[in-house]
Amino acid sequence: MLGIIAGGDFSLEGMEVADKRVMETPFGEPSDHFTIGRLGHREMVLLLRHGPQRIPPHRINHRANIYALKKLEVTEIIGVNSVGSLREELPPGRIVIPHDYLSPWGILTFYEHHVVHITPSLDAGLRERLIRAAKEAGAAFVQEGVYIQTIGPRLETKAEVAMLRNFGHVVGMTMAHEATLCQEVGVAYASICSVDNYCHGIIDAPLTEEEIFQRGRENAATVNKILIRVMEEME
Ligand code: HPA
Repeated sequence: MLGIIAGGDFSLEGMEVADKRVMETPFGEPSDHFTIGRLGHREMVLLLRHGPQRIPPHRINHRANIYALKKLEVTEIIGVNSVGSLREELPPGRIVIPHDYLSPWGILTFYEHHVVHITPSLDAGLRERLIRAAKEAGAAFVQEGVYIQTIGPRLETKAEVAMLRNFGHVVGMTMAHEATLCQEVGVAYASICSVDNYCHGIIDAPLTEEEIFQRGRENAATVNKILIRVMEEME
């Protein structure tokens, strides 16, 4: 079964809801219930990572979220992740399908008590399907990019952005945790990043969280088109 983890109050157009499941895990409570349903003939499950109470990014219980999805027999997960752009030539409104990530601090793991070293990477097969779907959906997208994860909840300083732009293309607060934990439990993971703003200081204009949320809501239509195309391809 395919899982989708998205932010805000994202909804998937055309999804027929069959069930809403509350899950318990050894890691505590997941962000929200799990909406199980179908799109076309495909069974899928949707989780909103910030839940109804709008959990801030640094407080999301990613381990509970991924553990519960694995228990629901999800074998692959598409993350829908809001990001800021580190490049002038990558404006808000674009989609990025990242090929790698940078997140060397605050690494989460399921392996607290025995030694397991995964070698992190995003799932190549799922990325290929996202790229094909984005092309077919006619989305303005970039098929590569390095995602840098910061801890949040505050945005980055201009000095931090000046440093980070030497190492990546977009910045967010969630994807690396999800990708790492999925890989640790053998669930394929890839991401559709919605560029919702220029990072602080990239352009000469003030940056507010309201602008980020607003752009995220606008980009949801493009993300929906890509996801629907992915599901159609699975039929
Ligand atoms: N920085 C970090 N996370 C984000 C941003 C940003 O500018 N935009 C959306 N998520």
